[in-house]
Amino acid sequence: MNVLAGLGAHAQRLAGTSLAGLIQADPARARDLALRVGPLYANFARQRYDRAALDALFAIAERAGLAGAMRRLLDGAIVNPTEGRAALHGALRGDNSMAQAACAARAQALAAQARMRALSGQLGASDVTDIVSIGIGGSDLGPRLVVDALALPGARFRLHFVSNVDGNAAQRVLAGLDPKRSAAIVISKTFGTQETLLNGGIAREWLGDDSRLYAVSTNARRVADFGIPPERTLPMWDWVGGRYSLWSAVGFPIALAIGMDRFEALLAGAAQMDAHAASAALRDNLAVWHALTAVWNRNALHAATQAVLPYDERLKLLPNYLQQLVMESLGKSVHVDGSAVEHATVPVWWGGAGTDTQHSFFQALHQGTQVVPADFIGVLRADHPYRPNHEALLANLLAQTEALANGQASDDPHRRYPGNRPSTLLLLDALTPASLGMLIALYEHSVYLQSVLWGINAFDQFGVELGKQVANRLLPALQGDGEADDAVTRELLREFTARR
Ligand code: F6P
Repeated sequence: MNVLAGLGAHAQRLAGTSLAGLIQADPARARDLALRVGPLYANFARQRYDRAALDALFAIAERAGLAGAMRRLLDGAIVNPTEGRAALHGALRGDNSMAQAACAARAQALAAQARMRALSGQLGASDVTDIVSIGIGGSDLGPRLVVDALALPGARFRLHFVSNVDGNAAQRVLAGLDPKRSAAIVISKTFGTQETLLNGGIAREWLGDDSRLYAVSTNARRVADFGIPPERTLPMWDWVGGRYSLWSAVGFPIALAIGMDRFEALLAGAAQMDAHAASAALRDNLAVWHALTAVWNRNALHAATQAVLPYDERLKLLPNYLQQLVMESLGKSVHVDGSAVEHATVPVWWGGAGTDTQHSFFQALHQGTQVVPADFIGVLRADHPYRPNHEALLANLLAQTEALANGQASDDPHRRYPGNRPSTLLLLDALTPASLGMLIALYEHSVYLQSVLWGINAFDQFGVELGKQVANRLLPALQGDGEADDAVTRELLREFTARR
């Protein structure tokens, strides 16, 4: 049964009503369609639903059993049935479940945190000044985001990231560093990822001394074969998905960049969001609001893309991070039971930091033919001394959400703004480890709840395998050993060989 049936009727009913009209008819929605969870405030008043449509959405949430689904996630139920796995990232950050699986995972997580603290201390007492983090996807994007957001000038270590198999990535990073004052962490859940193993090999040779090489992985045997001993290897587990893993030892670069105490504050912030998502009533539940809004925009308004627009330079990597979290989790066309979905699933997520992006793609947001729902994210307290800049930043943030919603009439069609472009505003009181932890956990739970509403598995990613397999098959042909099966690829390989 399509649980989303019925949303279309509300969308049709509202088709002739503009956002400005919705707000005029119901001014109280500015306050009523807002929630606060600790330092995180969210306002949904500029979404293109009214209270009747919201009632329908919350009825869907009830029927889909979102409250029970949140509980199952945190309790360690098998929420990833295609791989027979739990997704216990909640256990990495707090005690939000008494279930046996969650308690066992929590004990392992705490033991790993103790080892992270010890290894951080050892590195802190050494001559090492620079850390090179080597990983890709979930073993890179989370640490990269959080380090960029929270590392303070003058910190004990400088962090550098190498992910791309393109050798330019390693060359650029290593060129500026002294191998004798550097350590490298090779991060890979499987320790079988081509990019990471190649870049790890470059780092091992460049360091010239294996004693400053560390690893994070589930696969101790492959790590040992690579030449990193158990005392410099931190664990990962099957019950943590790669894109949900920054809270585990995959976050070791974060702990080194911001200190273990602030890393634990990040975890505590996420745990606060876990507690909220698991216990707040549906109508008071920020993760549920966010997920229902995503489903409304996708399945009722048929938005093909979703923008994420952080108005804080420190969060400029958030769109990259969310692209993996959201699109690798929800880019599916079949239900959990293998049957084809009868509704659209994930839109394309994209974005960038304001105000820069106002001078690049905002033209299309205001006057393009596609309506792009947007999450605007702001930080109220500045951590720099440039007050006029911060006031200008916040004024721009407010202005864009208003201008997109209301538009502006004009006799000149070129100067007319249609408005009616929906957005959610998420505001952090300040950017702290705890508030960032909450924000990321909010998106994680929203993604999971969207998967429940769509009846899909948020925790597998078989779609990324085929390309890897074909690349492995083609590598020998590229190296001059054998031919490709595919006629076009064969022709392209000839071109590669002739021109290299
Ligand atoms: O690209 C697919 C993927 O499996 C991601 O899900 C994962 O985060 C990334 O590759 C890296 O995997 P690993 O941590 O095993 O190297």
